[in-house]
Amino acid sequence: MNKKTGVKISGTGSYFPKKVLTNADLEKMVDTSDEWITTRTGIQARCIAQQNETTSDLAYHASVEAIKAAGISAEQIDLILVATITPDMFFPSTACILQTKLGLKDAPAFDLLAACSGFIYGLSAAKGYIESGVYKNVLLVGAETLSKITDWTDRNTCVLFGDGAGAMVLSASEENDDILSFYLGADGSYADLLYLPGGGSAHPATVDTVNEKLHTMKMFGKEVFKVAVPKMALAAQKSLELAGKTPEDIKLFIPHQANMRIIQAVAKKLNISMERVFVNIHKTGNISSATTITALDEAIKMGKLGKGDLVELVAFGGGFTWGSALIRI
Ligand SMILES: CC(C)(COP(=O)(O)OP(=O)(O)OC[C@H]1O[C@@H](n2cnc3c(N)ncnc32)[C@H](O)[C@@H]1OP(=O)(O)O)[C@@H](O)C(=O)NCCC(=O)NCCS
Repeated sequence: MNKKTGVKISGTGSYFPKKVLTNADLEKMVDTSDEWITTRTGIQARCIAQQNETTSDLAYHASVEAIKAAGISAEQIDLILVATITPDMFFPSTACILQTKLGLKDAPAFDLLAACSGFIYGLSAAKGYIESGVYKNVLLVGAETLSKITDWTDRNTCVLFGDGAGAMVLSASEENDDILSFYLGADGSYADLLYLPGGGSAHPATVDTVNEKLHTMKMFGKEVFKVAVPKMALAAQKSLELAGKTPEDIKLFIPHQANMRIIQAVAKKLNISMERVFVNIHKTGNISSATTITALDEAIKMGKLGKGDLVELVAFGGGFTWGSALIRI
């Protein structure tokens, strides 16, 4: 029997819009305070896309960087996957729009929706396509412009989210096996705790849906928090178990950046000290599918990871969905 094709993480990249919205800025927009936001969430600032800046624009910049880091030409990409809950439009997919921006033709391209777990769901898909020998170089992107589906009058949600994109090139390899394991889960009975009701077949856009603000995110934060912590801890444990590893084997734990208190609670459950937990939520806010990949890219750029280091990515989001992946850098 032929040896199974391995998967190599060949490059990563990220991109953030230039405009930064601080907690002080938010104090002028809604009844909130820097003190409340910082102590409850750990967020101090977030990047916000310009009005004419789209999710595919952010995805493009992150992708160019990841392709360069991979040392391949864009033409060698033979599959494009974009995880997003804020596509440029319903269809065509943001992945197709990105394909054209990258100057590519013919490579299959599609979007994947698993909310904040989207990048990890995407990793599992990329792994499957490469290991089965179907594609050799997969471009996987997590990109969001959450500012465009945020109700800027709702202090419960508008302080939490930001915009940004991260990208990874995964390649077929004889030597590497960089995605050691993954674990995915979902529970649709929680759908109405974190969602965007308007615009789909349930509530097609009308003047009423606009007036009722159905085109912006709705969230019951306390309930989300309660489920997020145990599910993220479970997911983290499962992918470690599947790879026969323990928390001690991980160089860096990179959890979804939704709330500093969620991150601390999950780390505590796993008995991982905060020194081994990568956190950049203070300057990004929650960027849904882009959080784990942009944090990973930043950790690599900061020199926090050496060749062969094990990293665990864990996420949780709308759906609810959750997932983890144990990867080697
Ligand atoms: C949203 C979240 C930060 C709120 O923190 P919390 O400690 O649960 O706060 P509560 O919901 O109990 O709200 C406490 C009070 O603060 C108020 N409040 C909410 N947002 C506020 C803000 N931005 N500024 C000031 N006060 C605010 C609430 O109105 C409430 O006031 P009340 O007691 O008079 O009703 C927290 O629940 C959370 O992060 N949940 C998870 C959200 C998440 O991660 N979503 C994405 C998952 S991928």
